[in-house]
Amino acid sequence: MWLQSGKPVNKFKVFLKGGVPVDERLIRIDYGTAFPGLDPESEIGSLKELLLLSSARIIEGAREGEEGFGWFDLPEADTAPVRKYAEWLRSFDTVIQTGIGGSALGNQMLSGALTHPYYNELASEERGGPRFYVADNADPESAASILDMADPSRTAFIVASKSGATSETMANFLFFLDFLGRNGVENPASNVIVITDPQKGALRAFAEDTGCRVMSVPGNVGGRYSVLSPVGLLSAASQGVDIQAILRGASAMKEQIVGAEGKTDNPAWIIAAASIRNYLEGRNMVVLMPYSDRLESFSEWFCQLWAESLGKNGSGSTPVRALGAIDQHSQVQLYTEGPDDKLYMFVTVEDRAEVTIPEPPFKSLESLSYLGGKGMGEMLGLEAMSTAAALIKANRPVMGISIPSVDAFRLGGLIFLFEYSTAIAGIAQGIDPFDQPGVEQGKRYTYGLMQRPGFDKYAEEAREISSFSKRNSIVI
Ligand code: PA5
Repeated sequence: MWLQSGKPVNKFKVFLKGGVPVDERLIRIDYGTAFPGLDPESEIGSLKELLLLSSARIIEGAREGEEGFGWFDLPEADTAPVRKYAEWLRSFDTVIQTGIGGSALGNQMLSGALTHPYYNELASEERGGPRFYVADNADPESAASILDMADPSRTAFIVASKSGATSETMANFLFFLDFLGRNGVENPASNVIVITDPQKGALRAFAEDTGCRVMSVPGNVGGRYSVLSPVGLLSAASQGVDIQAILRGASAMKEQIVGAEGKTDNPAWIIAAASIRNYLEGRNMVVLMPYSDRLESFSEWFCQLWAESLGKNGSGSTPVRALGAIDQHSQVQLYTEGPDDKLYMFVTVEDRAEVTIPEPPFKSLESLSYLGGKGMGEMLGLEAMSTAAALIKANRPVMGISIPSVDAFRLGGLIFLFEYSTAIAGIAQGIDPFDQPGVEQGKRYTYGLMQRPGFDKYAEEAREISSFSKRNSIVI
């Protein structure tokens, strides 16, 4: 039970169409406390026309194959090519994916949620797949250190970049290619698979030139919406994750959302309406706080999706990652008594591996007996309830999202739910959720400063702008 306060809360359950077998439940959303001082149903209802038009826009964009809308069809994609290349990757000891933003965060999310928490540290027979690392940042220390973990001939590289141009990814790619060549791998390209745009970019040219393995990100799928494409699924499949179950979950969620179009019990509408309404009330931050270590990187992934999709033209709410119970001891003071500028989304898990807390073995620890015999997961769940209660008492908007367990099917459902909610929230607010002009501007400055031909004017501009800040500097 989400809240046992005796206060009536709206309860909403999503079941698979055609039946309600308990183990097929996807998600539960409690939104009765997400609109403080307002009636949730009328708030969602008041946005009905706008959300209907926005949903229609998503469906139309996907049907017409428009730029940015391709994520909508990914749940139905054929996974056979991914599974084929994953089998090839499984013949290696180590797989390193280089990519950044949408070409890395989804991989970390899937591994974090669906593999053993210490997967890379396990013996190979226990892992049942190659060790997996993500090289996203262009930080020389991290790049060089990853290679200490890798035997060159037994290491494969996934190089993922939709544009096939992003400097950080290209720098890591060149560094790893060189590493293979310098360490006796005769044909370095044979240890590489690239995932990129079907037509353009340096990676596509490299694949054509060397004949290395290559997979495509559909042209109309943007970086941060690409986790259900080979970008996210290949590495997961190489680690033995059931990627078909991920897509089944995404597809089941899609069916629920599309099937509930026009109704107020639509999970994506609830999230979009709560974020829009709270934004209009001056709450310009959204805190996603899972009470599960497995979902920590889900928050990272969500933050990019939300921030890059909605932060445009001076509007957009700032996503904040938090983790229960850790952030109860870091952020919750601010959340309960600081400015009332945030919507809180808690994610809890009904069934998880449980550990029983032992009875204290010493008389000196008698004061801890209240813990003895209780479940550690049970405690985590109660902590979510306590923190939510404290926030609600302080009149802060809180939405409870709970999933039966962290598994491939439910994670696929959550991914699709958040993609859809983000897209519909953007479209409803007149924001294009699929472009990222601010990111592109930064990329152009980097190209210029790194002397990429054709980008000189951006280098000049970047130098000029950054020189302003140096006029007021101190060196101590
Ligand atoms: O969502 C986006 O488009 C971006 O955040 C990209 O994921 C990121 O910039 C990496 O781009 P690319 O995959 O083209 O290397």
